[in-house]
Amino acid sequence: MTEKKRPLRSTAWFGGEGKNAFMHRSWMRNQGPPDHLFDGRPVIGICNTWSELTPCNAHLRGIAERVKQGVYEAGGYPLEFPVMSLGESNMRPTAMLFRNLASMDVEESIRANPIDGVVLLAGCDKTTPSLLMGAASANLPTIVVSGGPMLNGKFRGQDIGSGTHVWKFAEEVKAGRMSVKDFLSAEQGQSRSAGSCMTMGTASTMASMVEALGVALPDNAAIPAVDARRGLIAHLSGMRIVDLVKEDVKVADVLTREAFENAIRVNGAIGGSTNAVLHLIAIARRVGVDLSLDDWDRLGRGIPTIVDLMPSGRFLMEDFYYAGGLRAVMAALDDAGLLHAGAVTVAGRSVGEIVREAPNYNEEVIRPLDKALTPEGGIAVLRGNLAPDGAVIKPSAATPELMQHRGKAVVFENIEHYYARIDDPNLDIDAGSVMVLKNCGPRGYPGMAEVGNMPLPAKLLKEGVSDMVRISDARMSGTAYGTVVLHVAPEAAAGGPLALVRDGDMIELDVPARRLELLVSEEELAARRAAWTPPAAPEGGYASLYVERVLQADKGCDFDFLVGRRDAGIPRHSH
Ligand code: FES
Ligand code: MG
Repeated sequence: MTEKKRPLRSTAWFGGEGKNAFMHRSWMRNQGPPDHLFDGRPVIGICNTWSELTPCNAHLRGIAERVKQGVYEAGGYPLEFPVMSLGESNMRPTAMLFRNLASMDVEESIRANPIDGVVLLAGCDKTTPSLLMGAASANLPTIVVSGGPMLNGKFRGQDIGSGTHVWKFAEEVKAGRMSVKDFLSAEQGQSRSAGSCMTMGTASTMASMVEALGVALPDNAAIPAVDARRGLIAHLSGMRIVDLVKEDVKVADVLTREAFENAIRVNGAIGGSTNAVLHLIAIARRVGVDLSLDDWDRLGRGIPTIVDLMPSGRFLMEDFYYAGGLRAVMAALDDAGLLHAGAVTVAGRSVGEIVREAPNYNEEVIRPLDKALTPEGGIAVLRGNLAPDGAVIKPSAATPELMQHRGKAVVFENIEHYYARIDDPNLDIDAGSVMVLKNCGPRGYPGMAEVGNMPLPAKLLKEGVSDMVRISDARMSGTAYGTVVLHVAPEAAAGGPLALVRDGDMIELDVPARRLELLVSEEELAARRAAWTPPAAPEGGYASLYVERVLQADKGCDFDFLVGRRDAGIPRHSH
């Protein structure tokens, strides 16, 4: 790509001899920059989601310093700025409620400031999509640097995975096979270094997605947070963003339909989180790529899951990095003709150039395509009278025998109803029942909480039941597993058919046929619909804006008014 000589955006702030230039420079001088930093060189914003309340991103100040080294080395002027940080483990009712809010922070911070290019520092689940959504709408040259995963969790000589083992151990306790004392002693060993969840949960999935999309440098997905090479990739990203500004390669030039198609296939191959469905659709629609659930189903069909990582498999992100990381996965897909090899990346090389010949050092962790963990990876999109606008299921995390199932509904009107009812010994439920949870969608919760993988009733766990069909308008943690149908659209709170399900109704799930049906007559459903009333809206505050403007899951849960690109023209003067 060639360098274009033109005045940079930041020159409108820092260039010239007038009153405004004086103001913009003068106040910056209280940080002591030498004159030459205002000579018209690229100004690089480092958009940081560092926060001690987001433990997965608590090390990002250090990563920012390494980005700055690279920016200076390449002749840019780095300026770090904070944005709202979304910590998955602490934020209630769910970090997802704030993804769009954080994206607004990012977009407006970029546009309002003297920035020519931006490096996005993300890690924990929602921090990656929120930053990329905002940056996509602003559309400057952009590189993502992920914080990297934690080292493998350890407990009594065994590897344990973020989240995945919380679910497993909690079930063990519930089934009476593990003591509470042992349970609590696993706590420290699970999270024993800086970084994000080291399972193939949403954070690792999204770090893989940005690498697959070409908006991060090669190896971004897997280098552990505390590996020296994480600092190295930050340094190189700082250098590279300066070049991208000079070459005028904007993020929308990289985020093409081809890039999203590559990412969807990679998601299938890594057994990635169902949350990626929502996030990729939302990011795509910011740059005008009309990505849909049907794209997910069509492109993911027949993509085998070859990465043997928890929650679908056995290993963890550290193992994945040592085995060759995402490049090895993409090389396998490329060999099979399953990638758009010509897609451009921020590295200045095409996807094919980056991944071709990438070595696989451990075929247990990254399997060959013909020895897949699950031959049908990907995300299956279901439709039917229970989900007219679609629902998703992750086959690699499900039980094969339950993929075609007919059972009686046990209905929970909301999550409190579930908690109140699930361990009632008199609850009429057996292994063949279908657990249905309502009012946990984008509007209903609000924010679409990760409660879709409802833990099974204690009495069935004690009998040795390990999985049941579960259906909801909620999401599921990327670290969770089970035969769990999620993201039912329209959601119950928006009047979707899910709202009409009652205890004892028959439900039919047929994943191979991509169907989800409520076996109740049209007349009966019409009668129930006439009696249905929508839940009360939140009273004021951000939640009321959210409920009013959030799109349904099949559209990525963005706000209707945020869809699209608004670019980063130069705003009017402030004085
Ligand atoms: Fe932050 Fe999992 S809780 S990445
Ligand atoms: Mg999560």
